[in-house]
Amino acid sequence: MFRRLGVVWRRFWAPTSLSFGVVLIAGVVIGVGGWWGTRTFLHYTTTLEYCTSCHELAPVVEEYMQSAHYSSPSGVRAVCADCHVPEPFWPSVVDHAHALVELWRHYDGTIETPEQFEENRLRLARQVWAEMEESNSRECRTCHVPAAFDFARQTDAAREQMEPLAHEDGGNCITCHRGLVHALPDMEAAAAAEQAAALAALSAPEGDLADVMYVTETAPLALSADPAAPPAAQVLPGTDVAVLGADGDMVHVRLTGFEQEGAAQVMYALAGKRIINTSMQADAQAAVDHGATELDPATGINWTATTLEGWIPRARLTGDGDALWSYADQTYRNGCGVCHTPHNTNEFPANQWMGQMQAMRDRTSITPEQYRLVLRYLQLNSRDVADASAQ
Ligand code: HEC
Ligand code: HEC
Ligand code: HEC
Ligand code: HEC
Ligand code: HEC
Repeated sequence: MFRRLGVVWRRFWAPTSLSFGVVLIAGVVIGVGGWWGTRTFLHYTTTLEYCTSCHELAPVVEEYMQSAHYSSPSGVRAVCADCHVPEPFWPSVVDHAHALVELWRHYDGTIETPEQFEENRLRLARQVWAEMEESNSRECRTCHVPAAFDFARQTDAAREQMEPLAHEDGGNCITCHRGLVHALPDMEAAAAAEQAAALAALSAPEGDLADVMYVTETAPLALSADPAAPPAAQVLPGTDVAVLGADGDMVHVRLTGFEQEGAAQVMYALAGKRIINTSMQADAQAAVDHGATELDPATGINWTATTLEGWIPRARLTGDGDALWSYADQTYRNGCGVCHTPHNTNEFPANQWMGQMQAMRDRTSITPEQYRLVLRYLQLNSRDVADASAQ
């Protein structure tokens, strides 16, 4: 047994052939040299000069130089790499592999001119947000230690938002601190462009009609199939309609909902809930069919079941409800999750979501159409509606 081991040992170190031993030693030398070289390279590539050599044309550098991370009373400076290049060895190697892509794009010209940069800004910012979301803002934490926050000395706004998160390791910084040192991308223009593309993809004018379809954008409803007929009502995005037939580009639909006593111009989706299906002019109101009336015991108001039939352009309808609601959910998370984590849909009852959205209206960059769709999405998944439909 020991003799066998001895033979193996001698073979291993045998100088006559390219043995395992030689390979091993060579490997160690190359490894250490390579590691040292890699570290030196990695170090050079974390300096402010290196990053700005490519990024100086884009406004990110100028914006950064006006921020508290470039100059402040304490004089502690965070350079580009402090926020963008991971400290741990392996993530930093992966990050530099990414950098090779950047190098390629550099010659490909995605950020050569300020115009090109602005075109790409939202895409790039989203990449950074996604990385930081995933790493739980690891780079911020190399300097900011949540346990060291002296909440008593913070501004009221900071304390209110951050003290409740102290037990969760401070929360994910990037959820709340977007646009920290660079200007935010033009979210409003981007939202409008994205909405147009998303809705165009959803409403397939040539697509088959389904039994139940959803309004994608506020749609005019006419009382006849004549494309020149004036609209008698506006149907809000997200409203579901039963399809009765079609004539050219016009689809014959039936809306079902409720009328609140004394408010004949509006059809709501559910009795007692201010989820609006459509707002109607006089001739549409006259065309409404009335059913049974029920009393809402909470408010003492009567609600009558109603239906309305009319014609809607095919381009404003989709049969793919799942895609529409997942688009609404995404819009909600992107548009309302910039300053705080998006609130759970079941945090408020349907009627309160109206006020909550109204209060945030001026703060978001979502378009008016997205606003209506998101509101309906929140209301349909609100505490009293979602719970009621789960029963
Ligand atoms: C060789 C030129 C070059 C150098 C040097 C360079 N960048 Fe970039 N960088 C680019 C280009 C080009 C893009 C756009 C890539 C694209 O279009 O996807 C980019 C994109 C970025 C982005 C946004 C995209 C993302 O996924 O993070 C960040 C952040 C960034 N660079 C930070 C840095 C930092 C920090 C340094 C220094 C460590 C640096 N860059 C050095 C050319 C460079
Ligand atoms: C290299 C260290 C360093 C890194 C990395 C760093 N910071 Fe800072 N940060 C500072 C210092 C120092 C200050 C205080 C400047 C002053 O004296 O006002 C500061 C200030 C701030 C402020 C208050 C001032 C302002 O601009 O609003 C916020 C918020 C902030 N940091 C968030 C972050 C977030 C989020 C990240 C990660 C994306 C981050 N920091 C990464 C060092 C750092
Ligand atoms: C739930 C949202 C939220 C999260 C998560 C959050 N912050 Fe804040 N933070 C705020 C608000 C709001 C302010 C005050 C307004 C401002 O300065 O932008 C603030 C202020 C600050 C300040 C300045 C404090 C002062 O009084 O000068 C620093 C530094 C800071 N945050 C760092 C961080 C870091 C680091 C993290 C992650 C560990 C983090 N924040 C996570 C919402 C948040
Ligand atoms: C204190 C942290 C911090 C520092 C320092 C910093 N960045 Fe950023 N950077 C961010 C964050 C956070 C984002 C994500 C977009 C946002 O919220 O503004 C970002 C986004 C970017 C983007 C994507 C495009 C955009 O405008 O969103 C580029 C490119 C970029 N940074 C380059 C740089 C360069 C180059 C430097 C140094 C001159 C630098 N950053 C310094 C935190 C930082
Ligand atoms: C520009 C930053 C910003 C954006 C964007 C934003 N919010 Fe807010 N939101 C705040 C701040 C700050 C508070 C806390 C102080 C206040 O109520 O004014 C808040 C509070 C809230 C509250 C809690 C109110 C309560 O009674 O507890 C809800 C719900 C809310 N926001 C929903 C939304 C929705 C929905 C959107 C998208 C339509 C949105 N927010 C977009 C900054 C923002």
